[in-house]
Amino acid sequence: MQTATISFDRFNSLADNDAGDRIRAAKAALGKDVVMLCHHYQRADVYAHADITGDSLKLSRLASQAEAKHIVFCGVHFMAEVADILSRPEQISILPDLAAGCSMADMASLAKVERAWRELKAVLNPDEKITPVTYINSAADLKAFCGEHGGIVCTSSNAPKILEWSFAQREKVLFFPDQHLGRWSGYKMGIPLDQMVIWNPDLEQGGLTREQIEKAKIILWHGYCSVHQMFQPRDIAKFRAQYPEGKVISHPECSFEICKESDYIGSTETILKVVKEAPANTRWLVGTELNLVERLAHEVKHEGKIVQFMASTICMCSTMQRIDPQHLAWTLENLVQGKVVNQITVPEHEAKLAKISLERMLAAS
Ligand code: 13P
Ligand code: SF4
Repeated sequence: MQTATISFDRFNSLADNDAGDRIRAAKAALGKDVVMLCHHYQRADVYAHADITGDSLKLSRLASQAEAKHIVFCGVHFMAEVADILSRPEQISILPDLAAGCSMADMASLAKVERAWRELKAVLNPDEKITPVTYINSAADLKAFCGEHGGIVCTSSNAPKILEWSFAQREKVLFFPDQHLGRWSGYKMGIPLDQMVIWNPDLEQGGLTREQIEKAKIILWHGYCSVHQMFQPRDIAKFRAQYPEGKVISHPECSFEICKESDYIGSTETILKVVKEAPANTRWLVGTELNLVERLAHEVKHEGKIVQFMASTICMCSTMQRIDPQHLAWTLENLVQGKVVNQITVPEHEAKLAKISLERMLAAS
């Protein structure tokens, strides 16, 4: 007899600890049939169950190599899409809560990027002159757009390398959706700030003149991460005044001012590595999401290292936070019953083109 999908209602009021016990039991029952990939921003009681943790580059590489039939992605929507695109057709990518999106990814849509491409045609031929580069924090259809137009995907750990690849193809880059990652990576390559202009998708021709577009090396989409946007140069100034020997490390989604004031810039994986490998008894100010910073502070405390969060306000990624033990237990118990809930499927034609731009990235980084 066919069993029905178990409804989430039965999990909603489950205590975190009880959900944790049920996750362990379901994982044990599923064995090698399931692999749990987990981004570093996930909450501690989800992170504890991960088979593999990582930044978005590491997780996309590992998703492409996963053996398990079911890939349960504890992260946000675009990450589960990447897992679906890069895994084998018979594998199933699952996002435990479909509401776990990325507000930055939502700042660029295919319709708006296509419009920008059309409007750029009034000034130059974009297919000859511009490499489109999408940050991995974007919907699959934008990765497909890049695949179709000679472009590529980047992550926060390979953006400078991907820009080099892009300039080897064409003389300019259209970078979306994160202006900060694009600007910082361009700056590190030696591109003057006045040759990086902002494309505002709500204005005609991005709000740019013909001359600005002609002069630009990088056209930066007007997108940003609301979590990383919260960090302020005054947070660093206060730390430096109090602890002149302390070090500052930030994620490249932070503003240009924060990146310039930091001692180190890197992806979530790099931040963890740098602080973990630092000498004992050092002090760190970290500019990235709170779950990661709190976990790191706890992990290095025994070496006398002090890790402080950069902002005085709480900056959590509220969408990453949506993956909770209750949704995870619900997803896994359904799998034990042979039911798949919250599968992420990228339409085939889109996946084919998106895979081109993702594979270009994996080869170039
Ligand atoms: P990483 O590539 O460093 O994991 O960053 C992803 C992300 O969404 C940061 O906000
Ligand atoms: Fe998106 Fe920012 Fe959350 Fe990263 S931290 S997933 S960029 S909203």
